[in-house]
Amino acid sequence: LKAIEAEYPELITKNSPTQKVGGSAQRTAGILVRHDVPMLSLQDVFSEAEIREFVAGIRAHFPAAEFVVEEKIDGLSLALRYENGVLVRAATRGDGATGEDVTANVRTIRAIPLRLLDTAPPAVIDIRGEIYMPKAAFAALNAAAERDGGKTFANPRNAAAGSLRQLDPAITASRKLSFFAYGLGAHDGYALPATYSDLLAQYRAWGVPVCPLQRALDSVAAAVAYMADLGEKRHALPYEIDGVVYKADYYADQQAAGFVSRAPRWAVAWKFPAVEKTTLVEAIDVQVGRTGAITPVARLRPVEVGGVTVTNATLHNADEVARKDVRVGDTVFVRRAGDVIPEIVKTVLEARPAESLPFAMPTHCPDCGSEIIRPEGEAVARCSGGLHCRAQRAQALIHFASRKALDIQGLGDKLIEQLVRDDRLHSPADLFALTLEDWAALPRMAEKSAQNILAALEAAKSTTLARFIYALGIREVGNVSAELLARHYRELPALMAASEEDLQAIDGIGPVMAQYIRHFFLDDANRAVIAALQAAGIHWPVVEAPVIATDSPLAGKTVVITGNLPTMSRDEAAAHIARLGGKTSSAVSKKTDYLLAGDKA
Ligand code: IVH
Repeated sequence: LKAIEAEYPELITKNSPTQKVGGSAQRTAGILVRHDVPMLSLQDVFSEAEIREFVAGIRAHFPAAEFVVEEKIDGLSLALRYENGVLVRAATRGDGATGEDVTANVRTIRAIPLRLLDTAPPAVIDIRGEIYMPKAAFAALNAAAERDGGKTFANPRNAAAGSLRQLDPAITASRKLSFFAYGLGAHDGYALPATYSDLLAQYRAWGVPVCPLQRALDSVAAAVAYMADLGEKRHALPYEIDGVVYKADYYADQQAAGFVSRAPRWAVAWKFPAVEKTTLVEAIDVQVGRTGAITPVARLRPVEVGGVTVTNATLHNADEVARKDVRVGDTVFVRRAGDVIPEIVKTVLEARPAESLPFAMPTHCPDCGSEIIRPEGEAVARCSGGLHCRAQRAQALIHFASRKALDIQGLGDKLIEQLVRDDRLHSPADLFALTLEDWAALPRMAEKSAQNILAALEAAKSTTLARFIYALGIREVGNVSAELLARHYRELPALMAASEEDLQAIDGIGPVMAQYIRHFFLDDANRAVIAALQAAGIHWPVVEAPVIATDSPLAGKTVVITGNLPTMSRDEAAAHIARLGGKTSSAVSKKTDYLLAGDKA
């Protein structure tokens, strides 16, 4: 095919297999897609009794209702739009009403056909399903990351989400994602069949994969047995599942049953319960974070919980340890629910050794020996060593290299910790002074990986002002605030010179953050690091004056935002409004055009 296309370029279509990897997701990243039919979620049930209730509830209205069941895939939902049989767009669920365009990346996924196997395909069909990372691909990805000192993912779902969001489709392609279809959105030129089972048969015929363990149920007993059976089998399946989904099979019944808020009445999900196991607390150490925060961590005798070996559990802070009264030598219950980080549920008091003592926070930093201080009224104790403390320095550098900051690919936490321990890194600017020989001399570092890191460092030099501000690791300044600051000041010197008053005038920057920002830029050491980074070649494009839409319904309007918005922070909403030409203000007045009221307004 490649040879033919080379000879006759006019024959290349954008759905040719040769075009699977190629193009750039950069062009579509962040573009929002409105779903013609909203993407809903499912109501959860937790017991056999609730399944009986669900079935009885539907049967009360539709005595002849039939049910199907299938695995609940632990991934992300995706909408695939085919026009005349050709994949034209893939979008994430987002908030259900609008998602993100991920077409370039989804084109690289082999399980998803670029063209439906049909000589007379529908004019439009929006096939919905779950994108996931098979367990084997997840294990291989993490093994490679560990080998190269890169970042590992907590579970296949996070890995799938991270892989889908890549700006380079070649990376998505290398991540071996896969897909199962389980639903239908908008369609035109396709007559809805009688049942969901019929729809799946059509999907299979088109070459679209569906949940392999889908089946019809003939009784509630069978529904319960299916759950029990999958509970046993789940660890042996090649993909991660977090429960099972029951659905009324007939579309007539589905349509009559309708919806409650954001979930259908004709389907429910029965999730596997969180798994709990007991193990022994071998030690309680403290970890030092980027801003010196001291976090106690329980070191556990390794125990397998829900398919994952758990060896550590964070205890958050001194109050939490005191509340749970976890002590060294205790037998404790450890829980993992889905992707939740393992936590200690409680300690088994009957099994506590007689001589055990309550945990006491150290008075000095285990890393640098500086005093640990817990300010009045604060939950968090901090090492007072600042950047003299190697542990804080390492965390600051890890933050600097992280995905939302300079995104230095391949520079993993372990590598950074090692370099800091060896006194090779004092500030982020030192990263750019290391040579190929320096990198290659590190343990377990092949010349090829060293070259890759150098290339990644070089690539990271061209960044954005917002990423740079975020990378500096100023306390309280997250990526959204960094974006606000970049957009407001547009140039670094202006931000560096800004007074607290000036900073606070920005909607979204409060007095505490303003104070941290001002102090950060007043500090000579910080200014020197910034100068060194710029001297090393870090640069960013000029931040353009905002292009304000004038033809939008919000142009020139004033909006007040209140309460918790379900899908974004108020800052993010304000940024959207600004792009659409509107203004936000903090209190309702005569000038207010719209009040955007979220939850608990
Ligand atoms: S049906 C109208 N079937 O679970 C709702 N969803 O917790 C259609 N999911 O948002 C969803 N496996 O992302 C359905 N076999 C399956 C599923 C499934 C996973 C996800 C889906 C949904 C979420 C709800």
